Amino acid sequence: MEITILTALQDNYIYLAADHTGNTLAVDPAESRPVLDCLKRKNLTLSLILTTHSHADHTGGIETLKRKTGCRVFGPHIDSIIDSGPKPEPHKIDSPLGLFQVLLTPGHTNDSVCYYLPASTSSAGVVFTGDTLFVNGCGRLFSGDAQSLWQSLRTLAALPDETLVYCGHEYAEENYRFALTIEPDNTAIRTRLHETQQALRKGLPTVPSTIGREKQFNPFLRADTTPIRRVLSMPDAPAWEVFAELRKRKDRM
Ligand SMILES: [Fe+2]
Repeated sequence: MEITILTALQDNYIYLAADHTGNTLAVDPAESRPVLDCLKRKNLTLSLILTTHSHADHTGGIETLKRKTGCRVFGPHIDSIIDSGPKPEPHKIDSPLGLFQVLLTPGHTNDSVCYYLPASTSSAGVVFTGDTLFVNGCGRLFSGDAQSLWQSLRTLAALPDETLVYCGHEYAEENYRFALTIEPDNTAIRTRLHETQQALRKGLPTVPSTIGREKQFNPFLRADTTPIRRVLSMPDAPAWEVFAELRKRKDRM
């Protein structure tokens, strides 16, 4: 499997994942043009689009791509451009690359899902997280609530550590900056910020991350740990309330 990272709009990522025959799926096509250009350049055939949620910056290219390629479209929202949506877990969707598990991950929006392809003998496991989990961050609360998003992040944290994380936006630098406002003395996070700035200066994406790395550094996945609880003076609160406080602080940053 080869995953091509495309940039779109201001800071969105679109992913094209192709098997060895060029049979390709696209994740969260914010726009059609970069996808069509890449398909042509690499001689790929688009057969499936997966969308993680209904926001326009993750769906804007679907209509044109569907019309021009005749591909199937799978997403969580009811809309004329979507062919089918997830039923209660466990839900699976067949793709050119194998059987994806559709993880129901409400919080950013009520309809957010993530797409997980377990590791195989030839490929590492991958998860496309949309706006639920970012590199060192998580999505804002739009139509979902903090308790739901915390549970959704727990679902993602339960995936194998080696799983590659492909998220919906390039927000790593501001997320590491935020993490340092919570833990100014965390030298590992300071190092990660420095590495991130170097990568971005070279025009390189910060994706993919891994579930293991996110569990190690991402404060939103560590809301139930002693260091975060101590900083927020919430030693005994339910973990989701600690998470909600972190999310509020990030919103105010
Ligand atoms: Fe979104």
